[in-house]
Amino acid sequence: MQAKGCNVVAIDTLRAATTCAAALENGAREVWAVRTVETSFALRERLEGAVLGGERHLLPVPGFDAGNSPFDYGPDVVAGRTVVLTTTNGTLALSRARFASGVAFAALRTAHLAARWLEGSGADQAVIAHAGTGGGFSFEDALTAGAIAALLPEAGLDDLMRTCLAAYRSEQDELERAIGGTPHGRRLHAAGFGRDVAYAAQAFAGSVLPVRDERQKGRLVAWRGA
Ligand code: MLT
Repeated sequence: MQAKGCNVVAIDTLRAATTCAAALENGAREVWAVRTVETSFALRERLEGAVLGGERHLLPVPGFDAGNSPFDYGPDVVAGRTVVLTTTNGTLALSRARFASGVAFAALRTAHLAARWLEGSGADQAVIAHAGTGGGFSFEDALTAGAIAALLPEAGLDDLMRTCLAAYRSEQDELERAIGGTPHGRRLHAAGFGRDVAYAAQAFAGSVLPVRDERQKGRLVAWRGA
């Protein structure tokens, strides 16, 4: 990823970016996205009252307060608190964007905000980075990239983004079926997280986009649009 000096939209539709946005929407002060379980536990010592959340193999980590379901981050759990989140692919995608000049963490629910954030940045170029799964391509992330592209008609798109846009246009009326049918969507259904998939499929429903705080780069904070 040629992210250095560019703005990066890191995408993890299922589920990390969806969950991160839900936490901020429900009043979390900030989300620290970290790569390892050990770092999460270490941060609990430093960040008083932090909620530890995330997953390994889709399931909550023993000793954590919450998993990676957006429904684990209701206002009763997160309002006014710091969340420390670690997930398999999503937080890795964020850490790969560390040399970017600005970073947003987007999903289908926040695609409209990601498009607005990119427009407002005034930069010539941006990188759309898919978290994917295990280093591979994920259709649900391509759909989010396409939803963002659909809102930026003036943008010059490379071939991958054109493909994402075409995929989004063909699936936009049946997003829940489309992302529910992906390998990751099917794994989530099988593990009992079908309602997370339905929630994540609600394009443009979110009111808050997680963006990196450029003064303290470990944390994501709520961006509500310019
Ligand atoms: C990830 O980061 O790999 C995902 O968010 C996994 C999940 O669905 O919990």
